[in-house]
Amino acid sequence: MTMTAVAFARENERRFVEELKALLRIPSVSTDPAHVGDVRRAAEFVAAELKRIGLENVRVIETGTAEEMITDSAGQSRLVPPRIGHPLVYADWLHAERSADGSRPPTVLCYGHYDVQPAEPLDEWKSPPFEPSERDGNIYARGAVDDKGQMWMHVKALESLMSAGGGKLPVNVRVIVEGEEEVGGEGIAAFVREHGGELKADVALVSDTEMFAPDLPTLCVGLRGMIYTEIEARGARTDLHSGMYGGAAPNPFVALAQIIAKLKDEEGKILIPGFYDNVAKPTADELKAWKALPFDEEHYRETEVGSVELTGEREFSVLQRTWSRPTLDVHGMPGGFTGAGAKTVIPAKATAKISMRLVPDMTPAESFAKYKAYVESIAPKGIVLDVRLIHAGDPIVVSTDNEFVRAATSAMRDVFGKETVFVRGGGSIPIVGDFVRELKIPTVLMGFGLPDDNLHAPNEKFHLANFHRGIESIIRFLQNVGG
Ligand code: BES
Ligand code: MN
Ligand code: MN
Repeated sequence: MTMTAVAFARENERRFVEELKALLRIPSVSTDPAHVGDVRRAAEFVAAELKRIGLENVRVIETGTAEEMITDSAGQSRLVPPRIGHPLVYADWLHAERSADGSRPPTVLCYGHYDVQPAEPLDEWKSPPFEPSERDGNIYARGAVDDKGQMWMHVKALESLMSAGGGKLPVNVRVIVEGEEEVGGEGIAAFVREHGGELKADVALVSDTEMFAPDLPTLCVGLRGMIYTEIEARGARTDLHSGMYGGAAPNPFVALAQIIAKLKDEEGKILIPGFYDNVAKPTADELKAWKALPFDEEHYRETEVGSVELTGEREFSVLQRTWSRPTLDVHGMPGGFTGAGAKTVIPAKATAKISMRLVPDMTPAESFAKYKAYVESIAPKGIVLDVRLIHAGDPIVVSTDNEFVRAATSAMRDVFGKETVFVRGGGSIPIVGDFVRELKIPTVLMGFGLPDDNLHAPNEKFHLANFHRGIESIIRFLQNVGG
């Protein structure tokens, strides 16, 4: 008798972890041009494994755009530089047998990303970010949970099912893995627009979110969208001696500080005119369900945020503030003098990286237009601004009333012995909006991270029990969908 898929997964737990470690050793930091080769190595690592476990049509697909001459609405021609893209990995297996009632077997599109955020600041890591280390039942490394570990759960669930089925799966499967999620996902968005037909499926399965609490199976049913922007402020023609010119020359850092101070007030309200126009309220049922979740603001402040107080709009709960309200944050202000000691200079230019999280029914285009117009209208004297959009993604909410959500909650009930809670996430996964809009399929956001997994931060980890429970949940989900 052959082993069941779940038994195969249990038998092979150690090997699965060791393989994940090999993937985690590849520093596939998508935002850093110095790591393009590593990003590609990670893509090839994933492709090779998909092939080894028996998936078909395994392809490493190039993304990016060639240099292009465009003519704008004013009739001006300009050269748009090429965009170097990181590859997509595609694979499929489409031979599932018809169910007993003769109906067409469904196709599941498994999505994940193999790129990671930068690991800096390095000196805050207890073990090096690209040398995975196991401590207290966790695996520590950049990308452990976001999203290499979770993407690997999909691959290992498919391997287990393949092995148990003697080379057959209970459902049709397509796999698409991207290497640009952490930088906006432009390549996959273009692929879905231009080759959507090649990803034809009935449902998308995404494991790139969190569980609400340890041992609590969770489906995420909404994500915030975002616009990531950069304001470049220019004052003098060149850097100047601050003694000789201070008092007469404009300072672009002071200008940015003045602009930023007018973007949001002390109560967390965004001051861009019309910014809240299309903010949809969560339904009464949702609000009621959120109130019932095991959440203690003080514990959250203490253990997750670690600040002396929480900030933001007082009239909304923390869950509302992070799930269903837009926000604005400043990420960094490159430019000027940041070295050791002191240098008396008035920098000629300064930049601020500023993003806004969007919620239904806001759109990136309209939100950016309002932001840009407002920022330009408050430009301080003597300062020339360039307000640029770096990347954008739509907010989404997914439906909970379909057979795929039921297949997921039933799978997790078997594994965790508990009912699933439905939550939203404050983060963004840009491609999910395109799955919903372009492919017109429901998405199941079944994630197994924990709130204290340190995503994007030093000491990122994945709780290994959740890695294994995730694999089992995905096995059972695919079996349920297959009928
Ligand atoms: N996996 C996260 C998104 C996430 C995290 C959703 C936790 C829900 C809960 C994803 O990798 C991510 O970090 N996305 C970026 C997207 C951006 C760079 C376009 C984000 O949210 O900042
Ligand atoms: Mn992610
Ligand atoms: Mn991320």
